[in-house]
Amino acid sequence: MSPFQLTRTLPEDATDAALRSDVRHGLTRSPRTLPPKWFYDAHGSELFERITELPEYYPTRAEREILLARADEIAAASGARTLVELGSGSSEKTRHLLDALTGLHTYVPVDVSGSALTRAGRAIAAERPGLRVHALIADFTSSLTLPDSPGPRLVAFLGGTVGNLLPDERAGFLASVRGLLAPGDALLLGTDLVKDEEVLVRAYDDATGVTAAFNKNVLTVINRELGGDFDPDAFEHVAVWDADREWIEMRLRSRTAQTVKIPGVGLVVDFAEGEELRTEVSAKFREEGVRAELAAAGFELTRWWTDGADRFALSLSVAREE
Ligand code: AVJ
Repeated sequence: MSPFQLTRTLPEDATDAALRSDVRHGLTRSPRTLPPKWFYDAHGSELFERITELPEYYPTRAEREILLARADEIAAASGARTLVELGSGSSEKTRHLLDALTGLHTYVPVDVSGSALTRAGRAIAAERPGLRVHALIADFTSSLTLPDSPGPRLVAFLGGTVGNLLPDERAGFLASVRGLLAPGDALLLGTDLVKDEEVLVRAYDDATGVTAAFNKNVLTVINRELGGDFDPDAFEHVAVWDADREWIEMRLRSRTAQTVKIPGVGLVVDFAEGEELRTEVSAKFREEGVRAELAAAGFELTRWWTDGADRFALSLSVAREE
């Protein structure tokens, strides 16, 4: 059994405070919005796992295909002794990388969900004698402090989750990742690619309604945590492609005029019939755009790999001298 350590950089009540603030701000502005991070309670995380197995939802399979094919190249190019994985969740896809990174000293999975993190971190530590696992409960969209560990470092941010950030948030996030690294360290980034509208919309509005349930789960989270009285069935799941901004939006459309009470934040919210609440942006990318955003943050994109059907890309970038 290798050493396993857990550090919480989020105060126990930080999640609570952040949820209240997000709900208060998001539901009093026009149009109303909620950030996607609140989908992922235990039930939402389970629904997301089911999404990744849907025939319509290609990103997980496409990324796995690339990781399997390229893990050795990623390992050779980065020579990483420390792997930091942002939003590690169940750490499922990381196993290919961990197998390939033969000189690895420390694995640092980072997630806001302590339960998934602890389970996955302990399992990896148990399987891999000699690998130090230092799990961090942290919100990587705010400031992160990494444990001491040998370089070179490789930060992996997989799944296309970077697409959940709006362009200005993305710029700030990438710059803060660069701030964690020394010149020569690397970033492995998963990005879903711009493609046919029909394929994109179906990936976010599947035939069996798993994504609809996932979307509505955010209302259940608010009901439980803040005493809300949302009726999830009073909202319709909507997925739309914004061709100008090249992102998918998930929304919840109020089926009727209705009033929702959220005592935990002292809100009474009136929804008009047909009013839409935006719950997620999932941006899709092109190589030139990814390269430019990384360059602006102090990275040089050195490798770009796609799956056989060019649906998804993994890029490897090197932190430049300041
Ligand atoms: C986990 C953020 C990559 O945006 O595709 C899946 C979440 N939302 N179906 C994505 C999600 C709807 C997913 N990420």
